[in-house]
Amino acid sequence: MFLRPSCRMAGSVAGCFLCIYRLRKHHCVDVPHSVLQRALRQERATSRIFSFILLALRTIAHISDLHFGTVDPAVAEGLARDIDARTPSVVVASGDFTQRARVGQYQEAAAYLKKLPSPQIVVPGNHDIPLWNVIRRFFFPLTRYRRIINHDLRPSYRDDEVAIIGMNTARSFSWSWNGFWKDGRISEEQLLDIKLSMCDVPAAVFKIVVTHHPFIPPPGERMKGMVHGATRALAQLEECNVDLLLAGHLHRGYSGDVRTHYEAARRSILSVQASTATSTRRRGEPNAYNWITIDRDVLTIEVRAWNGGEFAAIDTTRYRKSEHVWHRE
Ligand SMILES: [Fe+2]
Repeated sequence: MFLRPSCRMAGSVAGCFLCIYRLRKHHCVDVPHSVLQRALRQERATSRIFSFILLALRTIAHISDLHFGTVDPAVAEGLARDIDARTPSVVVASGDFTQRARVGQYQEAAAYLKKLPSPQIVVPGNHDIPLWNVIRRFFFPLTRYRRIINHDLRPSYRDDEVAIIGMNTARSFSWSWNGFWKDGRISEEQLLDIKLSMCDVPAAVFKIVVTHHPFIPPPGERMKGMVHGATRALAQLEECNVDLLLAGHLHRGYSGDVRTHYEAARRSILSVQASTATSTRRRGEPNAYNWITIDRDVLTIEVRAWNGGEFAAIDTTRYRKSEHVWHRE
């Protein structure tokens, strides 16, 4: 067996059939045909094992509240770079693409979304409805969103491991004295939609619902700005075995089990919120997004924040599901 000098480093790990095969494949070493065949079989078996493991994993880049109109261009470029380099299974954007629902802001947001990997699940937020133009607000609230960002207000994604649907919770008006212009709601029709589209999906598939308005508040804070109709919605989500809720709205990154805030909730469902990814209107947190890894009964949320030069991990939370309950590790 002859090993060329340029292959010494690779050759140092030789000794197994797999290594021999790789060395032979790259013309580093000359080995008998029978040895090569055995190495090839080992290579294929190893590839199958790794493929199985990798196929079970799903990764989600969860971004929210981009707010074009108040975007820091350097942060936006850094975010696109970071997500593109990490090649997520799905990009989820949970609303507020614009600051004031203007055409120019929508066009900037649409051009930006084209830079990000696909598939993408996007839903509108309260800022995507015009605030001051009363005619538009009440008669054509999401016309621009549907024309420029996504016509589909109920996008979905499905593969062997995950099923995701997005729900529009942005409303022109909400029955709330201190949030009538910005609060959101899930309607009866949307609950029926969840029932029809999610309940028949096998329980082995990890089910995710995306909204702009969250179900739970940040730790230690009161239930302000939560999605209206949450209690009824959770009953339906339980029936369909939904596992995870993704949202934004408050420009705060946090997560928890919905049962901590809803006495009637029986199923352990995780609610994960993202901070604003690119807006200069931050709420005491850096621009950040969630890198979520789903590995069957283990869910990991890595918060990746802007440090002035790039997005990097600042916090990791891991949940493990045991006997139908999510436990924080
Ligand atoms: Fe927002």
